[in-house]
Amino acid sequence: MSKVAADCTLRKASFRSGLKTITTQSQNGSQHNANAGTTQPRRAHTRTLPTRQRRHLKNFGPRRQLKTQKCTSMNKNALGRTGLSVSQLGYGSMGLRGPRTWGVRVVNDGDAEAFLHRVLDSGINLIDTAPDYGVCEERIGRFLSARRDEFILATKCGCAFQQHEDHIEIAHEWTQDVVKRNVEASLLRLRTDYIDVLQFHGGDAESLQRAGLIDLLISLRDQGVIRWIGSSSSLPHLPDLIELGVFDTFQIPYSCLKPEHDALIHSAAATGAGIIIRGGIAHGGPDAEIQRPALNDVWSAARLDEVLPEGMSRAELILRYTLAHPQCHTVIVGTCNPMHLVENLSAAESGPLPAEIVEEIKARVAHCQTGQ
Ligand SMILES: NC(=O)c1ccc[n+]([C@@H]2O[C@H](COP(=O)([O-])OP(=O)(O)OC[C@H]3O[C@@H](n4cnc5c(N)ncnc54)[C@H](OP(=O)(O)O)[C@@H]3O)[C@@H](O)[C@H]2O)c1
Repeated sequence: MSKVAADCTLRKASFRSGLKTITTQSQNGSQHNANAGTTQPRRAHTRTLPTRQRRHLKNFGPRRQLKTQKCTSMNKNALGRTGLSVSQLGYGSMGLRGPRTWGVRVVNDGDAEAFLHRVLDSGINLIDTAPDYGVCEERIGRFLSARRDEFILATKCGCAFQQHEDHIEIAHEWTQDVVKRNVEASLLRLRTDYIDVLQFHGGDAESLQRAGLIDLLISLRDQGVIRWIGSSSSLPHLPDLIELGVFDTFQIPYSCLKPEHDALIHSAAATGAGIIIRGGIAHGGPDAEIQRPALNDVWSAARLDEVLPEGMSRAELILRYTLAHPQCHTVIVGTCNPMHLVENLSAAESGPLPAEIVEEIKARVAHCQTGQ
């Protein structure tokens, strides 16, 4: 067990000797809430931003008022056959992975705590994480375990990472040992006794089947340790994974600047699976703090500034395009910037882009990518 996991205290540890002994009792002693997706927060946390964040916000300029209250109009969708009622805007927590991971931007504990509460307070009820996101799982457990019944927790498995002094070396391994170790450590770090959605962090259909990992996840689901089985994948492996017909959810990358999984999203949804979109704000688009030149090139080549309605930011256009995908049940946007969270909530509240703008963007991007 990793040191981080060992340091965690599971309030009502139900582990005894291996996964078979895990019970599904929740931390308050009752069976876990089968309707977690529809649960309303028990109390509203009204927090003011720490000084550093307020200063940070000043730098962004007061384009929109920073709201601290719950977004009451957040749309929810059924996450496919899971029936979970999931907010259309979810939260991708990778940015909170802390020090000793990648060093580009490090969010400290205080800011991470405030941010995670802000996410739930805003009405977002799905948080995606992974064992190989540094201290991310541990932070979610430490800061949000008291609010566990307010959110749907999606994490991953197949992660055989190595923690070095200043970075994590990501690797994936498709063995029963690795998957069991991931689940045990995730439960401890997340301070919970059930995972709503456990997703394979990549992998191809043949390796997962050969190692008996799908059967393993089904047995964990039968025991109540996990509630639903998911795959977080992309081309070239995604078609075969969809073909298996066993997954309750698929996490798939998609945005107007990277639309190549569009048809596969439809195929995945046709199996009844819930669709979780990642990369749905195209990493912030051309105005992002961390620039992605390849995506910016698509924006420029398609001349999307010509399509941008007056007063709308580029990030809003991208996010609302993603929300317009008919099979997008939720989009897990990653941000560590409170102002961006507010902007994204406001974009989600405005709803999907009008169909004619969607079609125009689609045609422009297709034209510059295929020449047709
Ligand atoms: N293989 C996998 O399973 C896999 C791979 C990648 C990601 N994921 C999951 O998907 C989540 C999201 O993926 P992602 O982070 O790659 O893509 P993303 O959500 O499209 O992009 C996140 C980036 O967008 C920026 N951003 C967000 N809102 C913005 C706004 N309004 N204006 C400008 N910039 C904005 C964020 O920076 P700021 O912090 O500055 O806002 C962040 O750097 C991750 O957190 C993780 O949970 C899974």
